[in-house]
Amino acid sequence: MKGIIMAGGSGTRLKPLTGVLSKQLLPVYNKPMVYYPLSVLMLAGIRDILIISSPAHLPLFRALLGDGSHLGLRLDYAEQAHPGGIAEAFLIGADHIGADAVTLVLGDNLFHGPGFSALLRERARRLEGCTLFGYPVRDPQRYGVAEIDAAGRLIGVEEKPRKPRSELAVTGLYMYDRHVVDIARGLTPSARGELEVTDINQAYLERGQAELVQLGRGFVWLDTGTHDALLEAGQYVQILEQRQSVRIACVEEIAYRMGFIGAGRLLRLGREHADTDYGTYLVELAERSARDQQVPHAPPPGLVADPTGLPPFAATRSPGP
Ligand code: G1P
Repeated sequence: MKGIIMAGGSGTRLKPLTGVLSKQLLPVYNKPMVYYPLSVLMLAGIRDILIISSPAHLPLFRALLGDGSHLGLRLDYAEQAHPGGIAEAFLIGADHIGADAVTLVLGDNLFHGPGFSALLRERARRLEGCTLFGYPVRDPQRYGVAEIDAAGRLIGVEEKPRKPRSELAVTGLYMYDRHVVDIARGLTPSARGELEVTDINQAYLERGQAELVQLGRGFVWLDTGTHDALLEAGQYVQILEQRQSVRIACVEEIAYRMGFIGAGRLLRLGREHADTDYGTYLVELAERSARDQQVPHAPPPGLVADPTGLPPFAATRSPGP
């Protein structure tokens, strides 16, 4: 499974913050925004990742994350010359995807909740066609919206409908099989001149190969599309990190827990940020792990174990063509 982070767009709704900076590099509390979607792909076990952004911003992503080898990843970069829609990622990333399946995550989406890493890995393993992740919101008309039948099966998707048929927003996290590139090649641009990801989802739905996983109570999906939403996302991360003294989307920790890097590398990465709480956290984690001889491959606490013991997710397939 390959990964793509779509970090294009002009960030118009966040101006003047995005006057010179990419939206996806703005701070969400103590990390650049792109760390959050990157951590989602890592938690799914994906190590080969393409980052797509505008020609002006791409060098900044490269300067921040390099080739990814420090995190045990392989990161590549590609330009989206003009904001041509999310689905253009599959044309730009066709070589990167090759004959593999791919998970696309939008660079401004923040996910957090119990059992997420295990859920992602399970869905990636069992992928047939496409898997979407739905989340109930108060204002579904701002998003792609999923329609489900009485049994909870996905029967429709619509982009920003004026009269939404459900409260389920389709979040910016999509898993597709290897046919996605061909499907993207056959798309025609929407009225706003973009290749819409919702049209890809519609194509899979028509093939009877679209599944919706509902992220329910206790799960957090935040977007960062307005000044208030951006600040609230930062406050959410701050509250949890201070209260529990764990880190959310700490990519170095995730790389270690997923077994992508060893404790020695983690320690060196921590020392690079030695003057910050972030660096101290990594150093302490590496030292504690060395002491406990803790085995990696255990994803971060709080992201896997479900303290309620209840299955937090419901998944159902579309009924078929
Ligand atoms: C995009 C997608 C939409 C999805 C949303 C999630 O909207 O087109 O279907 O629900 O991301 O963040 P945009 O943010 O480009 O308006």
